[in-house]
This record gives sequence, C-alpha cells and structure tokens, in this order.
Amino acid sequence: MYKINENYQKLPGSYLFSTIAKKVSAYTQANPGKGIIRLGIGDVTLPLAPAIIAAMHKAVDEMADAATFRGYAPDLGYGFLRDAVASQDYQSRGCGISPDEIFVSDGAKSDSANIQEIFSQDNRIAVCDPVYPVYVDSNVMSGRTGAYDAASGTWSDVIYMPCTMENGFVPEFPKETPDIIYLCLPNNPTGTAITKGQLQGWVDYANKVGAVIIYDGAYEAYISEENVAHSIYECEGAKACAIELKSFSKNAGFTGVRLGYTVVPKELKCGGVSLHGMWARRHGTKFNGAPYIVQRAGEAAYSPEGKAQLKEQVAYYMRNASAIKSGLQEAGYTVFGGVNAPYLWLKTPGKMTSWEFFDYLLEQANVVGTPGSGFGPSGEGYFRLTAFGSYENTQKALERIKGL
Ligand code: MLT
Repeated sequence: MYKINENYQKLPGSYLFSTIAKKVSAYTQANPGKGIIRLGIGDVTLPLAPAIIAAMHKAVDEMADAATFRGYAPDLGYGFLRDAVASQDYQSRGCGISPDEIFVSDGAKSDSANIQEIFSQDNRIAVCDPVYPVYVDSNVMSGRTGAYDAASGTWSDVIYMPCTMENGFVPEFPKETPDIIYLCLPNNPTGTAITKGQLQGWVDYANKVGAVIIYDGAYEAYISEENVAHSIYECEGAKACAIELKSFSKNAGFTGVRLGYTVVPKELKCGGVSLHGMWARRHGTKFNGAPYIVQRAGEAAYSPEGKAQLKEQVAYYMRNASAIKSGLQEAGYTVFGGVNAPYLWLKTPGKMTSWEFFDYLLEQANVVGTPGSGFGPSGEGYFRLTAFGSYENTQKALERIKGL
C-alpha cells in the first residue's frame, strides 16, 4: 500500500495567492459588473519590451528552419545567456562570478522552492516574518519545519526574524543559530531594502556561524538608493556562504514567459562538498533547460535597446509606487516601501486585521491587495499593494481608497 508525503497534510490552507484568487473570483461571480482593480499579486501589466519581442520572433523563425532549429537546451542554460548575466549582472559590479556559476531556470519561484533539496533534513531554517510564503511552504513539504501552531501561525522548528515597524522591517540576527537563512532584498512583502553595510553584516554572520544564505534578489532592478547592494556578491566573503536567486519576471515582465537563474559559486562548500556540483547534479536530473526562445528573450534584456526599454518599464512602475505612497499618506495611512521596491506596505486603519481590511477594500472600493498576515504572523495589521498595475488603474484605485 502506498503512502503519501504526510508533510503536505500539515500545510494550512492553500497557497496565499490561490486563496486570494478564489476569494476575488467568488466576489466577482456574486457581484458581476464591478470593475475590480487588482493590486494583489505582484504580476506585471506592461507588454514585453520591443527588443525582447524582436528577439523572440527571431528565435521562433530559427526554430522553423532545420539549419537553426534547436532541440533540448543545455540543462544549465545557453552560453549566450550565462555570459550576458555574468558580465552584466556581476562582473560589471566587481563581483567575480563566472558564467559556469550561473544556472538558468524557469524562474526564481521554483528555484527558491527547490534549493532546499540539497540540504539535510535536520537543518534549521531562519526566515523573515513576514516572508514570501514559498520559502516556508517548500520546507514544510520536505518535513523540515516541525509542527504548526495555528494560534500563533508559526512552525516549531522555524526560526522567525520579525520585521516590524519597530525595527524598520530590517531583520535582526536570531537568538538561535540557523543553518539556512532566507533573505529577500529588496524585500517582498515590506518593500524594505538594507544598506550594503547591513548586508555585509549578514554575510559575516553567516560565515561566522556556518550558515548558508539563500538570497532572493528578484526585485533588484527597483533599487534606487546608492548605498544598497545589487547583489550579495558585492559583499566580501559572500561567495563562501551565499546562493543568489534572480528572476526576469519583475525587471523584464517575464511573469508569463518564465525565466530566472541561480548563482551557486564554486567556492561554496560544506565540509569539502561543492554545492555547485550538487545543484548541477540536481538541475541535470530534474530540469531540461529553459526554452531556447525564452533564453534569447532573456539575452535581449541585456542589449543596449533592451536595457533602455526595461529601465523605462521599471520607472513606469516606480511612478505608480510613489503615487500610491503619497496618495495613501495624504489619505492618512502609514505607508512603507515603494522606494527600492515595487511594493507598498501599509498599516491597516483602526484595529482592522489584514483580512478584514482585504474584505473591506474588495467590497467597498473593489480593489484587491494582499493581507499582510498571509506572509506570516508579524504581517498581521499590515497590507500590501503592488505598483505593477497600469498607471490609470493605480490612479483609479487611489481615488476609490481616498473616497472611503
Ligand atoms: C508576489 O506577489 O509576492 C509575487 O508576485 C509572487 C511571485 O513572484 O511568485
């Protein structure tokens, strides 16, 4: 008789964004004709940039010709993309990352969920609270998190690093020593960034206690302040303790195209065993490479035209971010984020819980956001809005919220 992976039974509810989608769909079915504005999930709305579309068209034509047709992609990624990433995202910033330390994938979400596989079951993970739910849920699925306490919304074996208004949403070194530390900077969901000096502190801490940092840099393109690192490898010693995840979703609008990469430096070793070798083995066994057309699209993000067009897209979304921030502040809300990230993190008004405010906004303003408590217990009493909507919808949503 077969048995299931019982760890899945421990997961409370469904994935946060699936729960929200179900609630919104139930509301729209019951209230047809309401013009719902979605500022919940961080999904882009601008079309792909012309340089990217041109590269995709060209790649499609190549696939139609026997002379240029491509079958299986190299499982670790095409050289043309790995070279572009290494030189433009790393070497140009003084980070000595080489193309063969880059593993191209179908996105940072899957990499952030899969990376835990190469670590022992008895490692303790530390996460920021609130946190992107994938880090915790993927560790629940693999049986690393202990028992769930519904009252506190926490797992017995997870080390939580509360990020609240009191500490400026910046995690502090935990009292218990973790083995794996998840950091997402600029942060989803709070929109906070830390200085390069603060990040260096985390690298030094990880090297001191023998921990590995899983560094999610999905929102790096939104950094606007000078003293914020664009990669963890800008910090000294990071190649010995950190894995970096990057996405093309937020900087190039690939949420529906799917492309990302993970950097595992060759220097990263556990008792002499190379994590780079382990991830290469895992990738080779479980992944057949991102599609050629998509990798050519990714390469185009590094062309001069591509870079200029994407800079405009990021600026477009950041204009939304500052409009939301100032608009809500005018309306009396306390708002954080939106400076180095496309997320706004606001205090719910009065004593409303995050989910109460979600329902209130959905029903009274027909605006969808994300309840802070969905990201962890310290997110209770907060609410996330994304700047990825169209400018017009963002303005409309603001008018509605101000009119409440
Ligand atoms: C979010 O809204 O937190 C993200 O868009 C989800 C994701 O990137 O998977």
